[in-house]
Amino acid sequence: MSLDQRVDESILPAGSGHVERFLALHEFEPEARQRLPRAVYEYVAGGAGEEYSIRANEESYQRILLRPRVLRSVGPVDLSQELLGRPLPVPVVLAPAAYQRLMHLEGELGSVRGAISHAVPFVLSSNATVSIEETTAVPGSRCWFQLYVQGDRGFTRDSIARVEAAGCEAVCVTVDTPVLGLRPRQLRAGFKIPAEVPLPHAAHLRAASDPGRHSALTWCDVDWLRSVVKSKLLLKGILHPADAELAIQAGVDGIVVSNHGGRNLDTVIPPIEALPDITQQVAGRVPLLVDGGIRRGTDALKALIRGANAVLIGRPYLYALAVGGSDGVARCLSLLVEELRLAMALVGAASLQNLSRDIEWVAPAAFGSRASPGTP
Ligand SMILES: Cc1cc2nc3c(=O)[nH]c(=O)nc-3n(C[C@H](O)[C@H](O)[C@H](O)COP(=O)(O)O)c2cc1C
Repeated sequence: MSLDQRVDESILPAGSGHVERFLALHEFEPEARQRLPRAVYEYVAGGAGEEYSIRANEESYQRILLRPRVLRSVGPVDLSQELLGRPLPVPVVLAPAAYQRLMHLEGELGSVRGAISHAVPFVLSSNATVSIEETTAVPGSRCWFQLYVQGDRGFTRDSIARVEAAGCEAVCVTVDTPVLGLRPRQLRAGFKIPAEVPLPHAAHLRAASDPGRHSALTWCDVDWLRSVVKSKLLLKGILHPADAELAIQAGVDGIVVSNHGGRNLDTVIPPIEALPDITQQVAGRVPLLVDGGIRRGTDALKALIRGANAVLIGRPYLYALAVGGSDGVARCLSLLVEELRLAMALVGAASLQNLSRDIEWVAPAAFGSRASPGTP
């Protein structure tokens, strides 16, 4: 059976309208779970070890409560800003995620088409199943490229030149994966990358899912990368303020505070908890982005309050892609952005510049629990 047939059987035709019944990001997951082959679902949903970090990433947001200001004459909320030298209409970016043609026939093209609906950047993974040339060829697309740096500098230099020639706005180097984490759920489910799946940026790395793979990347390599990358350079996977400082010293243009969605090291600090110290250290010298566990507009708001310029989402848009292709991704973004807009109005902030830390209140322990996900 071909990949296309197998994936085709697991999806709805991406007809217009069928995604309108989803009213919150978490509602995509149960349906994606039904549609995806089990091993693919476990690959997306799962993470390292006992998945303490996956849970903590989300639960940390639930401990942060909001303390709104009132009577601030909030008109239409403006979510726009300039990020990395370009206008960004809403502070959201689609995180890099590998192997998207396993999730939907459209694959990464579905994600980039969905991103266009809000004019937000899509970060194409090194392990994408669609090439950067096909992705940037989609009219209106904005692409960044996520890079796993291997030992071969010649290959890395060529990869950077290739994605920049294709029109990539930024190169986002993932620095939290010197080895791949051990992910019991995907191992148990027997997840494998089928041989027929194209990997146009990592064909030589078919063993990329091999947990024994090592990357010996160091700060010296970041200095070298800075000299090679002509577009914007970001490091993804920073959690320690000392590393944020080293990144700035190396001349990066931005930092993504991330624990890889809890997929590599378990019991690692949730990014939203790492953010305040990093914000203080960075002191506005470069933009900060954050990902991991963002499921609501209020989560995005809390990240912005703690100093992020924008947030990335991972699993929520992958589930939406699995359910409805590009329509699903666009719906996922609409829900997140509208929730954020509403939350901003309700805390009394008309624009991103009006946000400050004094509108958060941290509960001593998890406060209530999220409504159980159910299909609408
Ligand atoms: C299925 C899947 C594949 C991923 N692949 C990559 C990847 O190729 N490169 C990378 O830097 N991060 C990868 N990530 C991590 C995401 O970029 C992001 O950090 C994480 O998903 C954010 O957490 P969230 O899923 O809770 O939103 C992947 C995440 C998932 C769920």
